[in-house]
Amino acid sequence: MSKNQDRDFWTAASNHLIRYGGSFEPAIIERAAGSFVYDADDRPILDFTSGQMSALLGHAHPRIVSTVSRQVEKVAHLFSGMLSRPVVELAERLAGLAPGLDRSLLLSTGAESNEAAIRMAKLVTGKHEIVAFSKSWHGMTGAAASATYSAGRKGYGPASVGSLAIPAPNSFRPRFKHADGTLDWRTELDDAFNLVDSQSTGSLAAFVAEPILSSGGMLELPQGYLAALKQKCHERGMLLILDEAQTGIGRTGTMFAFQRDGVTPDILTLSKTIGAGLPLSAVMTSAEIEEAAHAKGFLFYTTHVSDPLPAAVGLAVLDVVEDEKLVERAQHLGARLFDGLSLLKQRYECIGDVRGRGLMLGVEIVKSGKNRDPDHELGARIAAEAFRRGLSMNIVKLPGMGGVFRIAPPLTISEAELDLGLSIIADSIDAGLAGSTGGSSIAAE
Ligand SMILES: Cc1ncc(COP(=O)(O)O)c(C=O)c1O
Repeated sequence: MSKNQDRDFWTAASNHLIRYGGSFEPAIIERAAGSFVYDADDRPILDFTSGQMSALLGHAHPRIVSTVSRQVEKVAHLFSGMLSRPVVELAERLAGLAPGLDRSLLLSTGAESNEAAIRMAKLVTGKHEIVAFSKSWHGMTGAAASATYSAGRKGYGPASVGSLAIPAPNSFRPRFKHADGTLDWRTELDDAFNLVDSQSTGSLAAFVAEPILSSGGMLELPQGYLAALKQKCHERGMLLILDEAQTGIGRTGTMFAFQRDGVTPDILTLSKTIGAGLPLSAVMTSAEIEEAAHAKGFLFYTTHVSDPLPAAVGLAVLDVVEDEKLVERAQHLGARLFDGLSLLKQRYECIGDVRGRGLMLGVEIVKSGKNRDPDHELGARIAAEAFRRGLSMNIVKLPGMGGVFRIAPPLTISEAELDLGLSIIADSIDAGLAGSTGGSSIAAE
């Protein structure tokens, strides 16, 4: 019998864990190394979502392991008003990578970084309305959750006063079209801001955006969109906050996704990838905005602000990204993965679209026929088949869209591992189309 069927484990899990969303994978994960996690039978499972889109350097990268053990011995945590070298060094390194965003605040999670960014934008502008995309995800805490529209809005009472949304541009399912059927994002954006202007009470503080909406189904902002969005913000005296939780630190083939567009946001938030799987996040902004916030008494005092341990990890992540040339690698491997997935799209009608940038790609599963209607059931079957065959690949299911696989392996993945993943995807689609899951060899309960 599989060790994943450990009855005591699953009984204790169901008796003592609060379920926080979705179902658990049918395996007990004992360890992880490189591009794989290993279950209780020591079966390798290729991790195509880098943990929760975070393990940029794969699992247990030796330089992260040695940094953590060295730093935890030296100093891990401090009184929040004390500074240490890793914190100042990381802030300096980040400033060098994002000219114009000279000042950083180091925190723990993505939601927390967006919380701080929104708080700063409100204080600096003296306004309170926050606009976001209809398919956004910025985190599970107050202001971040108020700006999150892809899931989880119902049942928790009022969102922050002044929470507004505009549609996220979707090139595969355009709402506004040119004569040739392609997305007319400019008309869509103009239309959306007309609505923002009519709803606003005259207190627009900021727009918070992901350059590629990941939980929203891997929707990439088209070339030119970000510049137009920044223009819209500045016409209204709003700040542009970019949330690069997933796209930051090389994943899309540039250090930050905004660099492709040549548009620097007023505030940038980083999380997930900057700690490569450990809890580190950052808020970056210009000296001018930081001075204005400070003059107004900006307060974001938390237990783990400026902790030396995660800051040392962040420095090690940047070192590895540089030494192993991982930004270039994301471009090169991303092109290989995109080509491989595009070949699968030619082979399988159920693949409606392959999109994304660098090593951050989306594959949308649809029904056959002209309408390309969403096929959530098939998507779920393919995901289950893939997991059974040793590939972990997250699928997002949103109303009005097909199931979208989010494919974001570690930037350290080898070409052979990428090809293995592609061949498992093909086998899993075949099995999913045949309609049988073949019965999982491991069970959750
Ligand atoms: C773009 C984006 N921002 C923020 C968050 C929230 O980060 P955390 O879960 O670390 O709070 C996420 C998490 O998925 C995300 O994808």
